[in-house]
Amino acid sequence: MALIIFTLRLAIGILLFPMFLLNLLGLWNQICKKWFPYFLRRFTVMYNEQMASKKRELFSNLPEFAGPSGKLSLLEVGCGTGANFRFYPAGCRVTCIDPNPNFEKFLIKSVAENRHLQFERFVVAAGENMQQVADGSMDVVVCTLVLCSVQNQEQILQEVCRVLRPGGAFYFLEHVAAESSTWNYFWQQVLDPAWYLLFDGCNLTRESWKALERARFSKLELQHLQAPLPVELVRPHICGYAVK
Ligand SMILES: C[S@@+](CC[C@H](N)C(=O)[O-])C[C@H]1O[C@@H](n2cnc3c(N)ncnc32)[C@H](O)[C@@H]1O
Repeated sequence: MALIIFTLRLAIGILLFPMFLLNLLGLWNQICKKWFPYFLRRFTVMYNEQMASKKRELFSNLPEFAGPSGKLSLLEVGCGTGANFRFYPAGCRVTCIDPNPNFEKFLIKSVAENRHLQFERFVVAAGENMQQVADGSMDVVVCTLVLCSVQNQEQILQEVCRVLRPGGAFYFLEHVAAESSTWNYFWQQVLDPAWYLLFDGCNLTRESWKALERARFSKLELQHLQAPLPVELVRPHICGYAVK
């Protein structure tokens, strides 16, 4: 099986040779960082249409985590274009972090379209090191479709725990590896290297639930689901929340 996967990967590598060459020359990352926000803006329209009820259900208990002032301080890690803003409760104070500065103009547009939120600031940083965010300063941290792309899931989850106040919650909605006995998992493995380059470092075969189970949360509500998306490769999802 490993040989078949290797051969198919090689064939795809030959077909997409210009992209792999640009990557070897160190040029692909710059191109990708610029085009990816435009792609994501379009993708988000489709994703939110298909996943609206799931997102509404997931975020329905956000207000329970508001601090004593009644306001909810929320940090969105890997915010992208601000795809989740419309699902957050009114008056929510939103801070956004993303390592790609090219998202800022898309984020500003989403802020303008979501006047029910109180937007605090956009920080350009990776989730593995969120030193601009103070310890215990957030009621809630959100990651959607981010753990597939980060360099180090353990480090991000440690940072999430650091910035959350005791009793605060981490919400997640992520695409993950399919079951290992399925054809979907086979194709996820075949397409993973090309997918990684095309979609800005996204991995198809991550078992992100394992990192969440290992992290030091006091409570973890985690659900596996098949998202109703047109591309089967990204249908296996996990969603839920964890309490610090
Ligand atoms: C597929 S997009 C999802 C964006 C948004 N959360 C959504 O649901 O539409 C992945 C996002 O993760 C960001 N990202 C990649 N590596 C990251 C890291 N190490 N820390 C935080 N965000 C990261 C990317 O820049 C991008 O905005």
